[in-house]
Amino acid sequence: MTQSLTIIRPDDFHLHVRDGDALAAVVPFSARQMQRALIMPNLKPPVTQVADALAYRQRILAALPANSTFEPLMTLYLTDQTTPQQVYAAHAAGMIAFKLYPAGATTHSDAGVTDLFGLMPVLEAMAEVGMPLLVHGEVTDKTIDIFDREAVFIERILQPLLIELPELKVVFEHITTAQAAQLVAEASECVAATVTPQHLLLNRNDLLVGGVRPHHFCLPVLKREQHRQALVEAICGPQSHKFFLGTDSAPHAQTAKECACGCAGIFSAPIAIELYAEVFDKAGALDKLQAFASENGARFYGLPLNQQTITLRKEPQMVAEHFVYGDHAHLIPLRAGETVSWRMVD
Ligand code: NCD
Ligand code: ZN
Repeated sequence: MTQSLTIIRPDDFHLHVRDGDALAAVVPFSARQMQRALIMPNLKPPVTQVADALAYRQRILAALPANSTFEPLMTLYLTDQTTPQQVYAAHAAGMIAFKLYPAGATTHSDAGVTDLFGLMPVLEAMAEVGMPLLVHGEVTDKTIDIFDREAVFIERILQPLLIELPELKVVFEHITTAQAAQLVAEASECVAATVTPQHLLLNRNDLLVGGVRPHHFCLPVLKREQHRQALVEAICGPQSHKFFLGTDSAPHAQTAKECACGCAGIFSAPIAIELYAEVFDKAGALDKLQAFASENGARFYGLPLNQQTITLRKEPQMVAEHFVYGDHAHLIPLRAGETVSWRMVD
C-alpha cells in the first residue's frame, strides 16, 4: 500500500514572490501548498515603508487563484535609515518582522544595513514590541571566504547582538552550517532558524562537480556534506522545535541564472513540501515533519495553528523542465526534469 501522511497545512516562513508578471507566475504554487507565507521585502526598490508593504500585500492577494485562503505575512526591509517610530508604526499596522540584509550580501541587498550596531534604538524598539529581526547571516567583508561568511557572521555580529539585546527575537534565516545549527540549539527561546530544502538535500558538490550548476546556486552558498548532515540532525534533534520551514524559494528568469554572472536564488515552491518530506523520510523522522512545517514557526511568531490539512503520498512525481515566467521567460525549478519521491494530493 502506498504510504500516505496527512499534516496540518504548512506555512513558509521565508518566501520571495517578486512583483508584477513574476508575482502572478509564482504565487499560485505557494498558495497551493502553504496556508501562510512570510514575504521577503527585497524588491527593487525594497519594501521599507508600511504603505508599500500594504500595497504589495494587495498585489499578492490579487494574484491568488479564486477561493484561495493563502495569507501573505508582510515584512519590512531594515535600512540604516529605519527609526524606532517606524518600528512602532509597522507593528501597529500588522507587519510581522524586519529583515536584515547586510549591504551587498545577496540579491537586491544594496540598500541593506552597513552597521547593525548603529541601529540599537531600532532593535530595542523591536524587542519592546516583540517584532522579530530576521537575519541574512553572512558578513560581506571581501577578505572572508564565501564558505566562511555565515560562521564569521555568528562571531562578529550575531553573538554580540544576542548578548547586547537578549530579549530581541531573532530568526537566523536559511541556515547552512553546523555552527549556525549549534548556535540556535544553544541559544534562548528568543532565537530560531529557518532551513531551506536545498540546504537539507544538497552539498557544494552538487553545485560544482561535473560543471557549474547555476540552478543550485543560492546564498548562503551550499556547504560541505558535514554541514548538510548537521542541519538534518538539528531539525530532527532534541532542540528541533527551534527550526522551521522557510523555503527561500527565490525565482529568477532562466537567462539571469544561466549566464556569465548567474544570480543567486533557487526556485522550489512547486514541490517544496515534497522535498521536505523526502528529507524527513530519509532521516527516518517523518513523525517530525508536521512540527517543522506547520507548528514550530507559528508558535515562534505567536500565530494560531492552521485549521486545514494536506495529504502527501509516497509516490514518484516528475518535476516540470520549466515554468513560464512573465513574457517569454522561463523559470527552472529545483529538480527540473527529475523526480521527487513524494506527491501532495489535491
Ligand atoms: C534570494 C533572492 O533571490 O531574492 N536569493 C538567494 O540566493 N537566496 C535572496 C536571499 O534570500 O538571500
Ligand atoms: Zn531569501
